Amino acid sequence: MIDQATIDRIMDAARIEDVIGDYITLKKRGANYTACCPFHNEKTPSFSVSPARGIFKCFGCGKAGTAVTFVMAHENLTYWEALKVVAKKYNIDVKERELSPEEQQHNNDRESMMITVAYAQDYFTKILHSHVDGKNIGMTYFAERGFTEATISKFQLGYCLDSRAAFSGTALRDGYKKEFLVKTGLSVERESGELVDRFFGRVIFPIHSISGRVIGFGGRTLKTDKSTPKYVNSPESEIYHKSNTLYGIYFAKKAMMQSDKCFLVEGYTDVISMHQAGIGNVVASSGTSLTTEQIRLIKRFTPNVTVLYDGDAAGIKASLRGIDMLLEEGLNVKTLLLPDGEDPDSFAKSHSVTEFTDFISQHEEDFISFKTKILLSDSKSDPIKRAEVITDIVRSIAVIPEAIPRSVYIRECGKLMEIGEDVLTDEVAKLRRKKLYDDARPAPAPRAPQPPTDGDAAPPEEALHTPAIPAFVENVFCREQERELIYLLLRFGNQFCFGVRVSAYIISEIAGEDLNLQNLVYRQIFEEYQKLLEASETVDVRHFINHPNQQICELAIDLLSEKYTLSKIWKQPDSPDIEEDRLRVEVPKAINVYKSKIVTQAIMRLQADLEGKSGEELDALLLKLGELSKVRTRLSEMLSRPVF
Ligand code: UTP
Ligand code: MN
Repeated sequence: MIDQATIDRIMDAARIEDVIGDYITLKKRGANYTACCPFHNEKTPSFSVSPARGIFKCFGCGKAGTAVTFVMAHENLTYWEALKVVAKKYNIDVKERELSPEEQQHNNDRESMMITVAYAQDYFTKILHSHVDGKNIGMTYFAERGFTEATISKFQLGYCLDSRAAFSGTALRDGYKKEFLVKTGLSVERESGELVDRFFGRVIFPIHSISGRVIGFGGRTLKTDKSTPKYVNSPESEIYHKSNTLYGIYFAKKAMMQSDKCFLVEGYTDVISMHQAGIGNVVASSGTSLTTEQIRLIKRFTPNVTVLYDGDAAGIKASLRGIDMLLEEGLNVKTLLLPDGEDPDSFAKSHSVTEFTDFISQHEEDFISFKTKILLSDSKSDPIKRAEVITDIVRSIAVIPEAIPRSVYIRECGKLMEIGEDVLTDEVAKLRRKKLYDDARPAPAPRAPQPPTDGDAAPPEEALHTPAIPAFVENVFCREQERELIYLLLRFGNQFCFGVRVSAYIISEIAGEDLNLQNLVYRQIFEEYQKLLEASETVDVRHFINHPNQQICELAIDLLSEKYTLSKIWKQPDSPDIEEDRLRVEVPKAINVYKSKIVTQAIMRLQADLEGKSGEELDALLLKLGELSKVRTRLSEMLSRPVF
């Protein structure tokens, strides 16, 4: 954590026009500066920076903020990270929590590995540009591939000499430690203790982290014999985790944001060639099948992904399953099948950027239809195979988290497969239910409510109880807040916070004051939950999943499968498991937010009622108003106070 005094110093020092000016070119206009907005695509500048007020605002897309939030958005950093970037610019020392000796060591190791890798990148690049072999072999190869000088330097490509330890030897002589050469996988240690270069005789593709630091390498052999693997990659290490890295993300992130779209290709050469052809929003999963982390990385910039497939269909079927993961994470997935014999690399080379983009817009199709067509073409007249295809497609549709795209796909597939929509809907619902059962985590170990003991184990009484709402208040519609409560009830009801069941806590805070939920579906769930809870200590949510009322059943399924709920209240939406500590914060907060909404509306109504009132009538209203203001103050105090 950074202390407040330091934050203030950073904010005082930061001149917004300087900070933003590091990223984009600003033009002075009067007291302000303008530019083309870096957050959306535009030709005439609507992005404005006000040095006097220390803020920026785009009148095109509406994005606005301070120097720090600009850095956050532009570099995709957290607030703290962005603050540090700005601090560094102004040479402000940021004092953070002291690290333990182990943490210190760990950080030092990581940093040493980073430095070693950066050194290697520099070395490989120098060899490529200056060494006779680099020029004759490496450069010639890249030139044959059609890579321009600009592309080669942008991607920091390099060459590793074809002699077993040229790099390792130089690195050791330059003072780089054997330990880190081996840990980063640049060198491989023989039994004799001697080091050998992992990448010797290969052209080098550095792999960049999201912030542009080199963390690993891919090396392509220039030999054609089958016994040499075509590509060799850095091994998994403390700085290079394959599963959460996407090749090209650093170069693509801005274009991904601006175009609100991402192309997914197979490897290094596809990414580079598409960039060179003018298509910058492209990343590769580099050989391995996609991981959830990689998908979330994409999702930080855009929910729209188009997967590019080679013309030769061999690999398509094998990869279909991997695409389901994209759907499951809620991305909008399209596919693009390139003409026979073409991959993105070759296609980008033989077509202009307009031809390529035209081809994309004409041939892109949604993934479900694509998959249906591919699978159906194999099984035209075979009823058993057809049934298998239907099951397979239904499985893909069932993983889509949002109800609306699901129903769109059901309609689309019904047409393609000539099968009734209702049949498909039923099948999808069945699968979703089954998945919920399978996912259901084992109930938490039974735990009696903890009697208060001394010290900090005691449940803080005032944190437990949210302020009561006066009886004269009429309830109002607040759909979002009600939904949040139902979500907590269904999803975490059987867990504990403050030593009581979340369900009991919510119900007593709400129903205890006769606050009826206004949405009828939510109200019914709430009331039935309450009844079930009177009968037993825990509630089996299958009651709602299998509910005869279709609306309840659908809502329950949706809420329970929203692993990554979009709730505004939920701070860390992708934390799959909420421990008690989190519930202690989030549950009272949800109740408080709900109550605040009701109280605020009541206050507004009362204030409107004051108009033209006098005497006793006015006094009565003012009395109520005073009472409500107190409640509102208590609610906002609770909301702004950390519970821990
Ligand atoms: P290619 O086989 O087309 O590689 O795979 P290439 O370098 O373009 O070879 P040629 O010249 O067409 O024969 C495309 C991408 O797949 C990844 C690489 O990223 C490559 O750029 N790949 C391929 C690997 O990671 N490992 C492999 O063994 C093969
Ligand atoms: Mn190729």
